[in-house]
Amino acid sequence: MGLVTSKEILEAADRGGYAVGAFNAINMETAQAIIHAAEDERSPLILQITQTTMNYTEPEELVALVFALVNKAKVPVAVHLDHGRTFEIVMRFLKFGFSSVMIDGSLQPDGKTPRNYEENVEITKKVVEAAHALGVTVEAELGRLGQIGTEIEVGDPGKALTDPDQARDFVGRTGVDLLAIAIGTTHGLYRGTPTIVHDRLEQIDKAVDVPLVMHGGSGVPDDAVVKAVQLGIRKINIDTQMRVAFYDAIKEVVAKTEKEHAGADELGEVRKYDIRKLLAPARDAVRETVRERIRVFGSSGKA
Ligand code: G3H
Ligand code: ZN
Repeated sequence: MGLVTSKEILEAADRGGYAVGAFNAINMETAQAIIHAAEDERSPLILQITQTTMNYTEPEELVALVFALVNKAKVPVAVHLDHGRTFEIVMRFLKFGFSSVMIDGSLQPDGKTPRNYEENVEITKKVVEAAHALGVTVEAELGRLGQIGTEIEVGDPGKALTDPDQARDFVGRTGVDLLAIAIGTTHGLYRGTPTIVHDRLEQIDKAVDVPLVMHGGSGVPDDAVVKAVQLGIRKINIDTQMRVAFYDAIKEVVAKTEKEHAGADELGEVRKYDIRKLLAPARDAVRETVRERIRVFGSSGKA
């Protein structure tokens, strides 16, 4: 099946009344896990790389690996830049052949300082013009999501919610294809249970005619997710939940291996350091986590 745009995937999701997961890959194992999970579930997929992963690895190498996997994929996959913060970064990922990009115009390039509304409109318009010339889908963000470490107090998202009238103006002026909105979610782990403001979501969905995106999907209760999908959320971003699965799997294997090898002779000691024995269970754990999310989002069997 191979590479498609997220617009194609999400317009089908809109017609079908389901959401599609957008999962962050950071290395070979997570990219494989995400794609194999979508194939297991026969689900369309948005595989994304977030800009901050560029601090971990040269994007060209990870991108080459991702496209090698996507070109073999048995389900349609959009390859998406997540949280691109500058025009230049987004252009770099367009050059890589990404079929979908996010310009996160809600924040300055430092990823912390909010941009004002007009600045967000301007940079988004610029990216839309360039990306649309290449047939690439554009996602933008309006409203303030808590960033990891600067959480919106759970249960008190009021001050950062996306305004429906502003959303209508923003989509009309920028021509953006997908809109990430603030309805009470935040990135990272929640302290307590997040309050998703569903009636605000309903108002925004009525105000704009583009698919809506939920960021900060990890840790949102399934019933709140399902209700959000019924009210118009079509793309749900998941990152932290996969990191936790990966980490916990490795922790478990290390503990077991240490126990098994306690007092081992030299050969036994060397066998302990087979890193594949750590990474394979971590990959499987991420694959299971992604499958479970896909089933809740409702896109299983839609590919
Ligand atoms: O853009 C990525 C997502 O918003 C990740 O959010 O780590 O809370 O799942 P999460
Ligand atoms: Zn996000």
